[in-house]
Amino acid sequence: MTAHPKQLLVQLKKRWWIVLLLLIILLLVFAMNRNYRQHQNLTPKSAQCYLPEDYPRDDAIYRLRPLNALKDLLLEERQPRFRRTIFFLETSCSMPPRFKYNKLELAAMQACAIESAAQLNPSYDVFVLYASPWNYLPDKKTMSQLLEVTLSNPNVYLRSVNLQSLAVDTPVEDWLKSGELFKSRNPTEHISYLLRLLVLYRFGGFYVDFDVLFMRTLMNLPENFLGAESEHSLASSLLSLAPSGIGRQFIKECLRDFQQHFDAKNWRKNGDQLINRVASKFCGTQNVSAMLDNRSGCRGLQIHDWYAFYAVQRSYVQDFFDPARVKETLELTNGSYLVHLWNKLSYELPVKFNTDTAYGKLAKQYCPKVFEAISENSN
Ligand SMILES: *[C@@H]1O[C@H](CO)[C@@H](O)[C@H](O)[C@H]1NC(C)=O
Ligand SMILES: *[C@@H]1O[C@H](CO)[C@@H](O)[C@H](O)[C@H]1NC(C)=O
Ligand SMILES: *[C@@H]1O[C@H](CO)[C@@H](O)[C@H](O)[C@H]1NC(C)=O
Repeated sequence: MTAHPKQLLVQLKKRWWIVLLLLIILLLVFAMNRNYRQHQNLTPKSAQCYLPEDYPRDDAIYRLRPLNALKDLLLEERQPRFRRTIFFLETSCSMPPRFKYNKLELAAMQACAIESAAQLNPSYDVFVLYASPWNYLPDKKTMSQLLEVTLSNPNVYLRSVNLQSLAVDTPVEDWLKSGELFKSRNPTEHISYLLRLLVLYRFGGFYVDFDVLFMRTLMNLPENFLGAESEHSLASSLLSLAPSGIGRQFIKECLRDFQQHFDAKNWRKNGDQLINRVASKFCGTQNVSAMLDNRSGCRGLQIHDWYAFYAVQRSYVQDFFDPARVKETLELTNGSYLVHLWNKLSYELPVKFNTDTAYGKLAKQYCPKVFEAISENSN
């Protein structure tokens, strides 16, 4: 049965408020959408998720930000202290479409890296920095067990970092304004390489990639050092540099080199290649063995041998997860400060937190709380 048009009109009249409500909602959606589009036009697409939280101030998106968004590193009272800080950086582009926010999550390997760093260096602060300000910290009820376990370490701090404000008064301030960086085809990698330099330029300290597991404390190491990954090259996955003197000089060179060799289509030029270029100039030799041989280092910048941080080479990273390679892998990494799991390579491998593998055994020893949480969940 279909209603007579006249009846329908009568019905509608009775429910005039529904029509009004619909109209208001429609108008609101339209207004927000327009605002969003304007916002989109102002910045290159790849840069969307790195927009500072106060940009633009009267934007609809800004007003919708959740209350427990991560606090900005520069605006919080607790600031990183030189020689007492370990920095991790998460630069993946996390701003989902429209008005959603990212509930903060940690991958198991990230949680393990943080716990091991925090436990072995109790007098240090571990700052976990997020380049995208669009993350929020879930409340206790909805927080994942991994995140809860990680935050139970009293020396772990989560912060957002704002590329633009971090670059103020640094050698890349003007270059960053040119927008060149945001033409990158791999903004996650490029921004990661730039941000680690900027953070160390400002605060000094120890930067390390997320794909590591700490096995020894850093507390006895010198201020300024890098690690070789082989007899032929240095790697940029960890950097320890002071915010003054020789450390500052080295980072300054790195920032200059970053602009000079920036290639939107090739992020590798600004990572390990950059560190090798700058270190060669700094040390006056391209010969990594010579850098290692020199007890006084390069003008006070020490180069650690490959077994300190990169005992298992890139092409053997699967050994960490291979039950048949446990003994060899543990022997090889015995005495290392940390093990490095070579980023994407290991993210693609199934990460098993069981003690059949070298990684599992190390995780059980050096990130026991995370290990336990994962084991409980998988049972
Ligand atoms: C590099 O340095 C090492 C140690 O100082 C030296 O034995 C070697 O011959 C050098 N290699 C080259 C290619 O110069
Ligand atoms: C070792 O380093 C010192 C200080 O940085 C430098 O003066 C010296 O030339 C270096 N020696 C070699 C063999 O590179
Ligand atoms: C690591 O080294 C220590 C002391 O040097 C030794 O006692 C231990 O057995 C070694 N562990 C492995 C797995 O090689």
